[in-house]
Amino acid sequence: MAKPRLVKLNKIGSDAMGFISVVEKKKLPFTVKRVYWTYHTPTEIIRGHHAHKKLEQIIVAVHGSIKFTLQDNKGKEFEFLLNHPQKALYIPKGYWRTISFSKDAVLLCLASEKYDAKDYIRDYKLFMKVKEKKKKK
Ligand code: TYD
Repeated sequence: MAKPRLVKLNKIGSDAMGFISVVEKKKLPFTVKRVYWTYHTPTEIIRGHHAHKKLEQIIVAVHGSIKFTLQDNKGKEFEFLLNHPQKALYIPKGYWRTISFSKDAVLLCLASEKYDAKDYIRDYKLFMKVKEKKKKK
């Protein structure tokens, strides 16, 4: 199973002028089919609570900080704090996620698939059952 990982993006510019970070197609592990961003999330709200069957994502906190807790189908947890626009998180398919946001955080997502409600596993028990099925093989 592919592991989630942080990727340090390039940074062009200077303290005096400001910076640009770039993500180019040739450096991505998938073809981007969708881009979305989330914002104005209240700090007390935890989002996510789902896994994806197929979707892979690259996530950047373009503003503020965002904490991701990911869990694989064996129950292993991975925590990532996105707290700089140069930091990206690669999330492979099959990870249960919960996400919390600092005030004014903006999350940018590059996604490998178009939106498909059927790609979501929103039932944690079902997510764990996927694991049981795999174990029996
Ligand atoms: P969801 O992916 O559950 O957001 P989060 O993980 O941040 O809590 O999406 C929230 C709602 O938005 C859900 O009803 C599906 C809808 N949505 C779309 O219609 N298109 C999209 O591209 C995304 C990401 C979500």
